[in-house]
Amino acid sequence: MTTSTQPLIATPAWQALKAHHQHLAPQRMCEWFDSEPERFSQFSASACGILLDYSKNRITTETMRLLFELAAQEDVAGWRSRLFRGEKINFTERRAVLHSALRNRSNHPVRVAGHDVMPEVNRVLDKMRHFCIKVQSGIWRGHTGEPIRDIVNIGIGGSDLGPLMVTEALRADWLEHIRPHFVSNVDGAQLAQTLANLDPARTLFVVSSKTFTTQETLTNAHSARDWLLQSLGDEGAVASHFVAVSTNREAVSAFGVDPANMFEFWDWVGGRYSLWSSIGLSIALTIGMDNFEVLLDGAHAMDRHFQEAEPEQNLPWIMGLLGVWYSSFFEAGSHAILPYDQGLHRFPAYLQQAEMESNGKCVDRDGNLVNYPTAPVIWGESGTNGQHAFYQLIHQGTRLVPVDFIAPLQCRHGLTHHHPILLANVFAQGEALLRGKNEAEARTELEAEGLSGEALNALLPHKLFPGNRPSNTLLFERLDPFTLGALIALYEHKIFVQGIIWRINSFDQWGVELGKQLAKTILAEMTDPDRPVRHDNSTNALIDYYRNSQKGMGDR
Ligand code: F6P
Repeated sequence: MTTSTQPLIATPAWQALKAHHQHLAPQRMCEWFDSEPERFSQFSASACGILLDYSKNRITTETMRLLFELAAQEDVAGWRSRLFRGEKINFTERRAVLHSALRNRSNHPVRVAGHDVMPEVNRVLDKMRHFCIKVQSGIWRGHTGEPIRDIVNIGIGGSDLGPLMVTEALRADWLEHIRPHFVSNVDGAQLAQTLANLDPARTLFVVSSKTFTTQETLTNAHSARDWLLQSLGDEGAVASHFVAVSTNREAVSAFGVDPANMFEFWDWVGGRYSLWSSIGLSIALTIGMDNFEVLLDGAHAMDRHFQEAEPEQNLPWIMGLLGVWYSSFFEAGSHAILPYDQGLHRFPAYLQQAEMESNGKCVDRDGNLVNYPTAPVIWGESGTNGQHAFYQLIHQGTRLVPVDFIAPLQCRHGLTHHHPILLANVFAQGEALLRGKNEAEARTELEAEGLSGEALNALLPHKLFPGNRPSNTLLFERLDPFTLGALIALYEHKIFVQGIIWRINSFDQWGVELGKQLAKTILAEMTDPDRPVRHDNSTNALIDYYRNSQKGMGDR
């Protein structure tokens, strides 16, 4: 899939931004706020109930004009049409990228290679609905006739992080008698801890894997099956306690799940974009299918906003361009996601996969090495916890860390008096990052505390805050299924915009393959002490160290 013949950094739009960056980098946002009373209204936009205040960024109207020019030069609008039209823009895997079809609530036909996928999408949604009703009403029973109480999703990466993040975020919507659990790590500790508190007769396993070949998921699924059979004794129990979500019918059958209890999805759904598909089954079982569909409604509303709004009002477009601005021009190596909502505590981890697996690439669409930074490291933690841990570095460290503050105006728990305290902290952090604290201010404070002379001068440098540190603030009424759907889709499209500008394929993930291949070889070597090892001498020594540790283990 070829692109423009001119290297990105040589293009007029990139060069204009580079020159502009040099001129703008020493300027201070605070001064702009003093001279621009309209700055907030100029640099804020809203859609689907989400307000984006991006005024506390190192941007002027000229910056945004140049960024929009870059987007036009790189044909973001054209690529957006190709995305929604179902073209095979994931060209290294020869796949369309159509997670938007999974939440296409308009039901207008969406074609992949001329074939409308909507009837299939709706068929699987119906199947999920019927299954959820059966489980939730107690019609679906375990092997011994008990109703199901515990749902264990076994999956990893996109087959875990999305469902886990969403169910955590929507605890207020949990059905009373269903308890979800998530097992992803091949470290048996996670499965063992989860199973320790469960009654096999009342447990349903949802084995979620697009490929159904993933080592971690299959290892956990087999161990869960053994645990069930040890207790219920009868192979026939598997049918009532295991369902599967996958694109791989043969492998699901080989595992022993009745294909009638398999929920399909399709190769045009990327793993990290799959929570909208039947991979969302554990979400639907936990919050009910109606709420799951409201989540889809929210994402669909954001899809429409992304397709229809002018770039200057378009939230994903703006956030994507700001990401490019900091990553490629300021060379900010990371971006912090700071949700002030305990329910969103897994949102940073979810976005780590979404953004880093999508845009952590060093080769462009033509196969050339890129000579500009692409995706930053995504990290974060819910507020206010992070404030008492790593915010020190964001305020006074040597690195520029752009941040996204995310907060609901209302809480969905009973302790409403906590909420203004939480929100005051969001607003305060944004202001502190913007303004910092200069020498005169710090001096006045220290004098007020009774310090003077050498003692004051010694302490003074430590009390300064450089400020001028950028933040976005995203506010919405409450964290409900609709808003969460829109919020996730906002970030998905932000990632898309960035990938187009960086001229990379955001939808493959070859970078995870090498480690998987090597692990297979090494596992065989670890378990067979006579097998020769042919790696670097460090890896050889580590394998030997392990082999030696196993000698005599059987006698202990
Ligand atoms: O290893 C990376 C990855 O392929 C992710 O992209 C994916 O979400 C995850 O593994 C799980 O894959 P699967 O759903 O096929 O088990």
